[in-house]
Amino acid sequence: MTDDASTRLNGRDLTLSYDQRVISRDLAVRIPDNSFTVIVGPNACGKSTLLRALSRTLKPARGNVLLDGEVISSYPAKEVARRLGLLPQSSIAPDGIGVADLVARGRFPHQSFLRQWSQQDEAVVAEAMASTGVSALADRSVDELSGGQRQRVWLAMVLAQQTPLLLLDEPTTYLDIAHQMDMLDLCADLHAERGHTLVAVLHDLNHACRYATHLIVMQDGAIVAEGEPATIVTADLVEKVFGLPVRIIPDPETHTPMIVPVDRRGARREHD
Ligand SMILES: Nc1ncnc2c1ncn2[C@@H]1O[C@H](COP(=O)(O)OP(=O)(O)O)[C@@H](O)[C@H]1O
Ligand SMILES: [Mg+2]
Repeated sequence: MTDDASTRLNGRDLTLSYDQRVISRDLAVRIPDNSFTVIVGPNACGKSTLLRALSRTLKPARGNVLLDGEVISSYPAKEVARRLGLLPQSSIAPDGIGVADLVARGRFPHQSFLRQWSQQDEAVVAEAMASTGVSALADRSVDELSGGQRQRVWLAMVLAQQTPLLLLDEPTTYLDIAHQMDMLDLCADLHAERGHTLVAVLHDLNHACRYATHLIVMQDGAIVAEGEPATIVTADLVEKVFGLPVRIIPDPETHTPMIVPVDRRGARREHD
């Protein structure tokens, strides 16, 4: 068995583009099964584009994404949605929809003409709302929520989909620090306790180093480093990729790499 066939989700020889504009070329990506994979990289380097390709939202100009050994575009959309859930970077809710109704949409892939809404669907929706802390918002309209509340409602919808693979594009944006940690702990639980495979794009490198079992660092559409954070994250790598001089110290809580930007103002003051 080749490496490619040995993980549920991977892409090979990928060229990803919008019309004529190529974002990634000859990209190979492998999401280790049962990993909490985190993708980091500067703005506009192609993280969301890669997630779109991995979730069948964007068709590669060249190459293939394989899901469970088959080209992802060969599956019916509903079948993909039973295996893989995507939380896009920004989602627009249907006008006036209520929170519980939006979360319930996560159950659509599991329903059919013969299998209508069941008590089990009801229970899954209630659990997804409880675990993201949005149960109290059930009857509110999605339009009138704060950005952070809305983000958690969308996550609840994706969780209600109950897929073994979850792709989350910047799930912590809009969240205050406590809710960020709640969100990441929830992801870590899904990974550790339920064996889900998670892929999340995060901006906070320290969160990435704390939570990732596999870190993918992207620059200009390419993967420039990947592996365990403690093994791959160095000051040189961060400076090369983000153009920012940093120091790396052990996180006092988790002993994972902690990135501290060099105080450029201090250096400037010394020169004054
Ligand atoms: N729908 C689109 N049409 C055309 N260009 C796009 C589209 N979405 C993203 N891009 C461009 O592709 C590049 C990569 O974007 P994206 O994958 O969203 O980056 P990231 O998520 O890393 O910030 C950017 O230059 C962006 O402007
Ligand atoms: Mg993005």
